[in-house]
Amino acid sequence: MSIVETLPKTNHSALLKWVDKMIKMCEPDSVHWADGSQAEADALFDRMVAGGMCVKLNEEKRPNSYLFRSDPRDVARVESRTYICSNSKDAAGPTNNWEEPRKMRRKMKELFQGCMRGRTMYVIPFCMGPIGSPISQIGVEVTDSPYVVVNMRIMARIGDPVLEALGNRGFFVPCLHSVGQPLLGGAEDVSWPCNPENTYIVHFPEERTIVSFGSGYGGNALLGKKCFALRIASCMARDEGWLAEHMLILGVKEPSGKKTYVSAAFPSACGKTNFAMLIPPKNMQDEGYEVTCVGDDIAWIKPGDDGRLHAINPEAGFFGVAPGTSYATNPNAMESCSRDTIFTNVALTDDGDVWWEGMTEEPPAHLIDWRGEDWTPDSDRLAAHPNSRFTAPIRNCPCVDPDWERPDGVPISAFIYGGRRDTDVPLVFQAFNWNHGVYLGATMGSQKTAAAEGKAGELRRDPMAMQPFIGYHMADYFRHYIKVGNRLKHRPRVFHVNWFRKSRDGRWLWPGFGENMRVLKWIVERSTGQAHGVETALGWMPAYKDISWSGLDYPQEDWEELMDFDNNAWKEITLQHEGLFIQLHDHLPKEMVYERELLKSRLLGT
Ligand code: GTP
Ligand code: SPV
Ligand code: MN
Repeated sequence: MSIVETLPKTNHSALLKWVDKMIKMCEPDSVHWADGSQAEADALFDRMVAGGMCVKLNEEKRPNSYLFRSDPRDVARVESRTYICSNSKDAAGPTNNWEEPRKMRRKMKELFQGCMRGRTMYVIPFCMGPIGSPISQIGVEVTDSPYVVVNMRIMARIGDPVLEALGNRGFFVPCLHSVGQPLLGGAEDVSWPCNPENTYIVHFPEERTIVSFGSGYGGNALLGKKCFALRIASCMARDEGWLAEHMLILGVKEPSGKKTYVSAAFPSACGKTNFAMLIPPKNMQDEGYEVTCVGDDIAWIKPGDDGRLHAINPEAGFFGVAPGTSYATNPNAMESCSRDTIFTNVALTDDGDVWWEGMTEEPPAHLIDWRGEDWTPDSDRLAAHPNSRFTAPIRNCPCVDPDWERPDGVPISAFIYGGRRDTDVPLVFQAFNWNHGVYLGATMGSQKTAAAEGKAGELRRDPMAMQPFIGYHMADYFRHYIKVGNRLKHRPRVFHVNWFRKSRDGRWLWPGFGENMRVLKWIVERSTGQAHGVETALGWMPAYKDISWSGLDYPQEDWEELMDFDNNAWKEITLQHEGLFIQLHDHLPKEMVYERELLKSRLLGT
C-alpha cells in the first residue's frame, strides 16, 4: 500500500482550503490523508522501522508494539515555550506566556516556510470524544511526523469516520505541527528530528487554532491532547458553560451494586493513571468492591438535564508514565500495554522487549538504554528516561468501564484534588461546600516531577492540576468554576488527597496504589451520604474507625501522623496562597478571598 499522495475524501471547502494553504507554506514532498486503518498504520511502522526511527518489539512477547527513542533534548512538554496568544495580554493572564497574535503569526510563518521539504505531510482528521457524542469535538492535525500519526491513531478517533462525521460544513480546530527539521537535498534523516532552539507551542484561543513547531514529543506534538482538549477546550468551556479538566474518571461499584463515578485532578506524574485503574485490596474485592476506568488524564464535564455534571473522556488511549509501572503497582496498566503499544524512551531488552525502572525488582543483566547505549545494572544512570511513556489503547484495559464511550457521559458525584506533598497535607479531607472545594483546587501545590522542565522536588502551585493547561486568565477560570457548580441542582462533593506524605523519619506513611481504595470508599460514602466525618479547620476528615481496614494491618499511630496537621505550618501555607492571589488580584473572584479568611479564622480559633 502506498502511503503518499492520497486524495482527500471530503468536500469540506474550508478544510480543503486550509490544507492547501498549509501545503503551499510548508512545501512537503507529498501529502497523505490518514484514513486511520490498520493497513495504513502497518505501512507507516514498516517504513519507520526500515528508516531506523523505531524498533519493532518481539512479536511473541509484545505483539504489534514498537519502541521509539527521542532526541535527548526532546523528552517532555516545554512550558517555557508554550504560548496563549489571545488578542489581549490580560485575557491570557499572568500565569501564561503571551505574545501579540499578529507578531506570533508572523514568526510562525517564517518558521513554517518550507519546513516540510523532503518530508511527507500527513493530514489527520481526529475526534476528541466518541464520534457522534454531543460533547465531542473535531480537529484536523497537519504534521510531518509519522510518529504523531501512529500515536494519534491510539489516543484519538482518527481518519475516514471522522471526515464523515465532520460533513461538508462542520466545525473543526485546525492544528498545525512540524518537527521543524526539513530534509534538505542529500542530507540523511535523523531518527528523531526536532528543533529545540526554535520550539514553540502556540494557541490562538479566539480563533481556536493551534500551531506547534520544533518538538515531536507527547503533549507538544499530539495536539488533540493538552493543546486542544485542555487549552483550547478550556476556552470553549468558559464560553459555553462547561469544564475541560486535567482529570481522570473512574467508577466505583459498591457491594450493593450501586455505581458512583468520581473524577480526580492530580498534577502531571502524580498518580492519575494509577488511581484510574486501581485494583481494590483482596478483602474489599471479596466484599464486592470494583473500580472501572473511564479515562486517565482528561475529562470534559457538562451540566446535564438532571442537574448533575456528566463527564466524557475525550481520549481513546493512555499516554502513561512508564517508570514505576509494574504488575505489583498497576497490573491494569501493564495489561493495557502488553500489546498494540508504542513505547517512547524506555529501555530495550536483549530479547526484544521493553524495561524500565520499577517494572521488576531485579533489572535485566543487559539493556539498550533510552539513549541507545549499552546498559548494565552497574551503569551509573537510568535505563529509561523518567518521563518515558507508553501509548496504549483504552480498549486493552481489563478494567475499562462498560460505559466509557457513553455519548452523554457518566454522572459525577465527587471531584478529588491531590498533589505530591512530603509534609503538612493530610491523606484526605472533604471541603465544606462547593466554593470551599474550588478554593482547595485553586490553592493546590505539588512537588515538581519529570513530566515538565525544571528541578524535581520543588513545590509548585498547580491549581486544579491545570497551571500549564488553562487557555485564559487563571482567576477567570476560578470564577467560571464557581459559577458552573453553583448553577447545578446537584453539586459534586469535593475532596483533597495526598498519597505522598512522608513520616518524620522519611518513609512513605501511606502504602498508596490499591490501598487508596480505602480512601476512595470513604469518599464515595461521603458523596452518597453514608459515611461519618469529623469537622476540622481544613475540612471534614475520616477518623481511624471510619476507614475500612479489612486485610491491612495499618497502625493507628501512623494514621494519626498521616492525618495530623500543624496550625502554625498551615498559617504559613495560607500566606503562600496569598502569593498566588496577589498575582491574580485584579481578576480574583471574591469567593477566594472569603474562603481564605474563613480558613484563617478556623486555624487561628483553635
Ligand atoms: P501524567 O500522565 O503525567 O498526567 O501522570 P499521572 O498523573 O497519570 O501519573 P501516574 O499515575 O503515571 O503516576 C506517576 C508516578 O507516581 C509513578 O511513578 C507512580 O509509581 C507514582 N504513584 C502513583 N500512585 C501512587 C501512590 O498512590 N503512592 C505513591 N507513593 N506513588 C504513586
Ligand atoms: C502530562 O504531562 O500531564 C501528560 C503528558 O499527560 S503530556 O501528554 O506530554 O502532556
Ligand atoms: Mn497529564
